[in-house]
Amino acid sequence: MKKTALITGASSGIGLELARIHAAIGGDLILVARSTEKLNELKIDLEAKYKIVAAVITKDLTAPNAAQKLYDEVKSLDIEVDYLINNAGFGGIGKFLERKLEEDVSMILLNVIALTQLTHLFTNDFVKKGNGKVLNVSSTASLIPGPLQATYYATKAFVTSFSNALSEELRGTGVTMTNLMPGATDTDFGKVSGMDRTKLFDNLTSAEHVAQEGYDAMLSGDIDVISGLTFSQKILMKLMPFMPKNMVLKQIREMQEVTK
Ligand SMILES: NC(=O)c1ccc[n+]([C@@H]2O[C@H](COP(=O)([O-])OP(=O)(O)OC[C@H]3O[C@@H](n4cnc5c(N)ncnc54)[C@H](OP(=O)(O)O)[C@@H]3O)[C@@H](O)[C@H]2O)c1
Repeated sequence: MKKTALITGASSGIGLELARIHAAIGGDLILVARSTEKLNELKIDLEAKYKIVAAVITKDLTAPNAAQKLYDEVKSLDIEVDYLINNAGFGGIGKFLERKLEEDVSMILLNVIALTQLTHLFTNDFVKKGNGKVLNVSSTASLIPGPLQATYYATKAFVTSFSNALSEELRGTGVTMTNLMPGATDTDFGKVSGMDRTKLFDNLTSAEHVAQEGYDAMLSGDIDVISGLTFSQKILMKLMPFMPKNMVLKQIREMQEVTK
């Protein structure tokens, strides 16, 4: 049966690729982000290519009550959502005390608050009907503390912990929650966060690859999926829990120094 996916941050990067993947198998879409023009271009392209229906909802998810307003708009359009994909998010490099506090608060509002509110609103509906899937886009940053991106890493630690806990609470309801943890991925994220000027962004994975792995894991109802780490990063992630904390913090800091 045709499924409808609501994707936040569908105007670029991983969210846009998730929209393409879902449309390519005949799924309808609700595309959410701030850039109306980009969303409309995507809508026209996907509807023409795949004979699907895509609704565009322009929303700044950091605005007061944005999640509730988005939920109400979806209800007023009388669209039943089957998959909720909480993908919108951004990061920002620099020492916490030297960064603009409003930017970090905005990051928390998007990466944490909007994701939590949308999850509460839509997942309650999924549980009532006994089916539905949630894909939360976290990050490999969620697994470690991130000096020089302290707030971003902490927001993603929240996403991973929250998603994993809910995946257990939802067991037996017919609803699944999957947590996607991408490594450095080739999207606008690098430029927006300033991470494109660090060593960590020397090796990038394509957004298509990350989106496909995330989407497949969501369909399988997996708890977690890590996507796009290099071989040496995979080894480092495995070793980190056994390394002294100060050594880990130093290593992450070095990887996040602006060098270009
Ligand atoms: N790229 C990476 O290396 C990487 C690694 C790990 C995790 N991630 C995570 O992957 C997710 C997607 O990021 P991406 O890499 O695809 O970056 P991206 O290309 O910059 O996409 C971010 C998306 O979020 C939307 N967005 C930003 N602020 C918003 C707001 N206030 N309200 C509504 N939508 C907003 C953007 O659309 P508008 O600007 O049109 O609003 C855009 O569609 C994020 O959660 C990010 O943290 C990325």
